[in-house]
Amino acid sequence: MKIAVLGYGTVGSGVVEVLERNQEIISQRAGDVIEVKYVLDLRDFPGQKIQEKIVHDYDVILNDEEIEIVVEVMGGVEPANTFVKKALLAGKSVVSSNKALVAKCGADLLKTARSNHVNFLFEASVGGGIPILRALESSLTGDEIEAVTGILNGTTNYMMTKMFYEGADYEEVLKEAQANGYAEADPTADVEGYDACRKIAILTSIISGKMVDFEEIYTEGISKITVEDMKYAQALGMTIKLLAECKKEDGKWYASVAPCLLGQEHPLSSVHDVFNAVCVRGNMLGDAMFYGSGAGKLPTASAVVADIVAEVKNPHTDIMNFWTEEKLQLEDRLTSSKRFLVRMTGVQAEMAEKIREDFGEVTFINPEGIQGEFGVLTSVMTEGEYEEKAKVYPQICHMIRVEE
Ligand code: NDP
Ligand code: HSE
Repeated sequence: MKIAVLGYGTVGSGVVEVLERNQEIISQRAGDVIEVKYVLDLRDFPGQKIQEKIVHDYDVILNDEEIEIVVEVMGGVEPANTFVKKALLAGKSVVSSNKALVAKCGADLLKTARSNHVNFLFEASVGGGIPILRALESSLTGDEIEAVTGILNGTTNYMMTKMFYEGADYEEVLKEAQANGYAEADPTADVEGYDACRKIAILTSIISGKMVDFEEIYTEGISKITVEDMKYAQALGMTIKLLAECKKEDGKWYASVAPCLLGQEHPLSSVHDVFNAVCVRGNMLGDAMFYGSGAGKLPTASAVVADIVAEVKNPHTDIMNFWTEEKLQLEDRLTSSKRFLVRMTGVQAEMAEKIREDFGEVTFINPEGIQGEFGVLTSVMTEGEYEEKAKVYPQICHMIRVEE
């Protein structure tokens, strides 16, 4: 089986390495020897063994009938979408790690794959090395999935862990995540939550069977989380994690991405560093959690190679169904209920009575070393109610949601 790899960066070079290092076991499992015939990249790699496979013209790959699988690990929506579509139309299956592409064009590419009797597989696009898509699509088939809550971005989890437990500086630790190959080409996608948003859109599409417009998902990243927020979390015996969630309640679908406070008993509170984890709730299964490396060269390449092996074993069969082009209607986040940690400037004693009137049974928090402000842990209320009440408090300097 001859394949082509598009992009020889962190993931692409990992795919070549995994196929080389585990060649024997992979051949046994796939029932064929998998050979990388071409690697498309913008750069040359003089003096490296890979150079003999490097091409710069995609048509070389497209027009070579020997190539049955194209592995897209370049990133970005274009030209990745054009390249992937052309490959599918030419009867070649495609494996991708590119969540930006899958979230934006997944429904169309899946349809193109189906009508050309090939596959479009993208296990590595969510949760790095965690085989979560295959589990949802092939294993949890007896359940209705009611909720998925995950730490889906390795870069931000790495950063938050270092900041929370080691007092690391935001900019320094972002640079470390980039040097480790965890971050997106533009790390804004990581720190502003856009990457986690695309991943929860993909998961929601899979479990609902319909297309989710990721741009409709409420998304907040970690860039506004401060050392002070972490002190409040510590005073509460909690931690802060960037959570991506989707749930179905009374037939209505909700999805969001935001930093949240988690108690020690929450299974995601102990997911640290570059690790990701996905909690899945099925109506029969109850709760299950999938855990593993969420980013990085070899863990991601492992998931890409697993898709290649699946395709080699079952060529041109519909391995995964995933979702249709019908759009999923998401509910307004303002109707979902939570508790909120609200930080306010001013004198607590002067404001306490009004705060209790407005926010119900509240707990006040005064972390050591924080002056001129205090924290309020509200009772459970909808986001809409919270926003309405918060309007008359110019003293609010930050709010973080609490995950129960
Ligand atoms: P990199 O930037 O390290 O690698 C991308 C490679 O593709 C680079 O070598 C780049 O060349 C090349 N490339 C970009 N555009 C083109 C083009 N038009 N033609 C040919 N080559 C091109 O990215 P990663 O390997 O980190 O990520 C790849 C994809 O995998 C992304 O979609 C990312 O979101 C996803 N992903 C990444 C993970 C990770 O941990 N890094 C984990 C899971 C998914 P050049 O450098 O010259 O621009
Ligand atoms: N930048 C992404 C992350 C890569 O940090 O999770 C894995 O999808």
